[in-house]
Amino acid sequence: MSNDNLTKALKIVLADSYALYLKTHNYHWNVEGERFFSLHNFFEVQYTELAIAVDEIAETIRQLGQKAPGSFKVFSELTNIKDGNENANAGDMVNDLAKDQAIVMKSISAALNFAQELEDEATTGLLVDRLTIHRKTKWMLESMK
Ligand SMILES: [Fe+2]
Repeated sequence: MSNDNLTKALKIVLADSYALYLKTHNYHWNVEGERFFSLHNFFEVQYTELAIAVDEIAETIRQLGQKAPGSFKVFSELTNIKDGNENANAGDMVNDLAKDQAIVMKSISAALNFAQELEDEATTGLLVDRLTIHRKTKWMLESMK
């Protein structure tokens, strides 16, 4: 069975994760207000985790025999994540990132279905780990409202 559907779906997961990495970094840099210190640090934990994740996702695409996309142009065509607004207030940044976790989870679930169909347990494992992390991050962000 061809893994075209899986690699296509993984490229979207990569683009979403990279876009979320960039947006989380944007908010780390630009968040303001009373919650500055806690949110600045919290966002740093998330973008650091995402930086490692995008590498794992890209290298999985390579292991499946495809080239991994790595340009803003291609990522912007593939991603479902909208650019961040550096002028947003702290609460809106938190809400925006919480919604984005759900968007990435949807892309991961689509890829996960293809990985399971192919009985690709290594990719399944990676995607389950990604889902677990994004669900936890979503919960933490929603708990800050
Ligand atoms: Fe920093």
